[in-house]
Amino acid sequence: MTRHLPADAPPPGCPAHNRTALHGPAFAADPAGTYAALREHGHIAPVELAPGVPASLVVGYRTALQVLRDPTTFPRDPRRWQDGVPPDSPALGVMRYRPNCMFADGAEHARLRGAITTCLERVDRTALRADTVRVADGLIDGFAGTGRVDLLAHYARPLMFILFTNLFGCPPQLSERLATNTKALFDGCDPEAADRALNATLQELVELKRRRPGHDLVTRLLAADLSDEELRQTVLVLMGGGSEPTADLIANALYRMLSDDGLGGGLSSGVVRVDDAVDEVLWVDPPMANYSTFYPREAVALAGVLLPADQPVVISMAAANTDPSLNPAHRTGNRSHLAFSAGPHACPAPDLARLLGATAVERVLDRLPGLGLDGGAGPVRWRESPFSRGLLALPARFTPVRVPVPDPVAPEVVPPAAPVPPSPVTGEVGVRSRSRNPVVRWWHGR
Ligand code: HEM
Repeated sequence: MTRHLPADAPPPGCPAHNRTALHGPAFAADPAGTYAALREHGHIAPVELAPGVPASLVVGYRTALQVLRDPTTFPRDPRRWQDGVPPDSPALGVMRYRPNCMFADGAEHARLRGAITTCLERVDRTALRADTVRVADGLIDGFAGTGRVDLLAHYARPLMFILFTNLFGCPPQLSERLATNTKALFDGCDPEAADRALNATLQELVELKRRRPGHDLVTRLLAADLSDEELRQTVLVLMGGGSEPTADLIANALYRMLSDDGLGGGLSSGVVRVDDAVDEVLWVDPPMANYSTFYPREAVALAGVLLPADQPVVISMAAANTDPSLNPAHRTGNRSHLAFSAGPHACPAPDLARLLGATAVERVLDRLPGLGLDGGAGPVRWRESPFSRGLLALPARFTPVRVPVPDPVAPEVVPPAAPVPPSPVTGEVGVRSRSRNPVVRWWHGR
């Protein structure tokens, strides 16, 4: 029998509508419990992404693959849906139409995605790994002497930001502005002004690369058949879609390795399996937890549910990966999870994400003896997002390490600098940035 999922907008938790909220603290505290309850509905469940924003969440692995592999029945363009959404809805931040590959189908998608895959293919993996080690070590030098650090705010995030701005050949001044504009966009104070400022900075970067081409992704994108707006959007998708989830992957993997119930009972057992931790996180806590979204043009019956036309059908990578019909014992060494999605819109850079993630985790484990979670900071808290799964902070302790006195001509390490402001989340103080890289220094509030 086919059930009907209403497309109206019920109040959160209203039993008459029986929609489960994917926003708010209850979901963030226990997403696995929420997915287990949603499975009572079958492979597709009625959820609410933000107050007054209903959606159908695909929680079954096989049904998820069916949707992901059928772009004709399940296209990506959200415009008919978004016309009916209040303009200030927080769901629009992620779901609003933008002229980039994520919202395109068919030949348009192939053109926009082709520009990306062509330039990603040319990224030198060996050089990228060496860069990751170098920048990671510079950041670690900044806090190695203190014995305490928020591994998200002072390691995973700045590491990814710096590596990505390097990949884009973005000079320090523009990097700082990009970071400030992006932060303003996420802070949501004046999203339109933040959007305008971000666009202006991206345009400057594009024009700079036209005048002074380099060995970077923006220069390579200039060779593709893209308008300036498409170029800016593509840079944004690559930066935002690459750096944030990879930072979350690093923090989620470190958390699993360091927590008592994590892999191998934390590091105290002496068992450190970085690849296993990364794979386990991609199965169980994928950074993009409920992401790929489709808008069928007409009502369509799927897995016993009638999905309404022009309403979002969201794939839950996290729920599909933990579908009880999949045997968890078969996960090790198995990469058929949906953390990078599947079908025509699957992530074009899973190998880069793994390389960056595993290298970053390895550096911390190699460099910081006695690393463990900072129990004094209380239990970790997760961001309240329906779309992504990431920590608010990852406070850790370790045995302080003396960093060798830096060579005055070395490019990265400089003498100790002033203390940095407390981490906005943990209130942690004492982390020092000794990097000469202006972006690292900006990140540390100096
Ligand atoms: C752990 C890190 C990462 C995860 C979990 C991840 C996951 C994903 C997922 C689930 C999608 C599908 C999104 C959708 O259907 O709407 C996607 C798409 C995409 N990802 Fe990643 N990604 C990661 C890292 C990266 C990196 C490092 C890059 C680039 C350097 C990148 C570039 C992209 C792009 C351009 C798309 C859009 C593809 C399309 O629409 O055709 N991602 N990613």
